[in-house]
Amino acid sequence: MTSPAIVTEHLTKTYGANRGIRDVNITVEEGEIFGFLGPNGAGKSTTMRTLLGFMKPTGGGGRIFGLDIVDDSVEIRTRVGNLPGEFALEDRMTGRQVVQLFARLRGVTDLSYADELAERLNADLDRPTRKLSRGNKQKIGVITALFHQPPLVMLDEPTGGLDPLVQETFLELLIEAKRRGQTVFFSSHILPEIERVADRVGIIREGELVAVENPHALTGRTFRRVRLNFNAPLADEAIDRFRRLPGVREFQADSNTHLDFSAHGDINAVVRLAGSHDLASIDIERPSLEEIFLNYYNGNGRNVTKGVAV
Ligand SMILES: Nc1ncnc2c1ncn2[C@@H]1O[C@H](COP(=O)(O)OP(=O)(O)OP(=O)(O)O)[C@@H](O)[C@H]1O
Ligand SMILES: [Mg+2]
Repeated sequence: MTSPAIVTEHLTKTYGANRGIRDVNITVEEGEIFGFLGPNGAGKSTTMRTLLGFMKPTGGGGRIFGLDIVDDSVEIRTRVGNLPGEFALEDRMTGRQVVQLFARLRGVTDLSYADELAERLNADLDRPTRKLSRGNKQKIGVITALFHQPPLVMLDEPTGGLDPLVQETFLELLIEAKRRGQTVFFSSHILPEIERVADRVGIIREGELVAVENPHALTGRTFRRVRLNFNAPLADEAIDRFRRLPGVREFQADSNTHLDFSAHGDINAVVRLAGSHDLASIDIERPSLEEIFLNYYNGNGRNVTKGVAV
């Protein structure tokens, strides 16, 4: 029987009187990509650092591939490629020398995948890392986490500082890692990138895990912010028809040519009614992450756990 890649049970880490994380229960199966989503200060880095044994839990515990995160942290780290959130190389060593150092520490001799990664990420392995821009340093960090193709990859906000093209390449690398059977756990505060690659997303807020979801279910079930501009003013009755559509909330008509509201559930009726008028523009946007969180707290989420402060 194989153990899950990661299991935590009531994992808790406080910093003195300060909240870190509380009662976090996560299971990540082998071979899945798990996205860990939460705003600044939610507890993503604390969870990851505790899992990797850089800090001791103050309560609860966890296992990685069946190994105890406190007692077996040295053994665990041999199976993990890790990119810490505060990754910042300021060294005379070049990226290549950094990768070679990691390779020696890990007993890896084949660096061919490191070269492939450098090429695909457009990383400069030959300049001293202290001379690299933030994004280019981050690429070196990504390479050190991935080049030995470890069973578990743990990346804390890996796309911070990467430009959109490189971000896209990076997400492809995660999908390729999954195809090889590797497990990926990565944190982010960017929902679309998690939605793009993750099999499941865990949402953490104020130190507590509030939901674990299929990311498409999360964004699909949520509402859209709709803004409509018309070329000719609408009659008051026409505006009322929008206001009374099922699922329409927070309705605002700034003028008879401009409507602003949120649409929950099926968007078809909104689009059809809008299309029956002379539109100047139509914007249908996803809510921000914060709005999605708030939606959870307002009781629209299924998996809200007890005790979450509203
Ligand atoms: N060394 C520390 N000492 C005291 N409190 C800390 C320390 N590190 C983190 N915290 C607190 O623990 C909570 C979680 O922080 P953490 O760094 O884990 O959040 P995060 O989700 O990684 O945020 P970010 O998106 O900003 O990286 C915050 O309230 C933070 O203030
Ligand atoms: Mg962090």
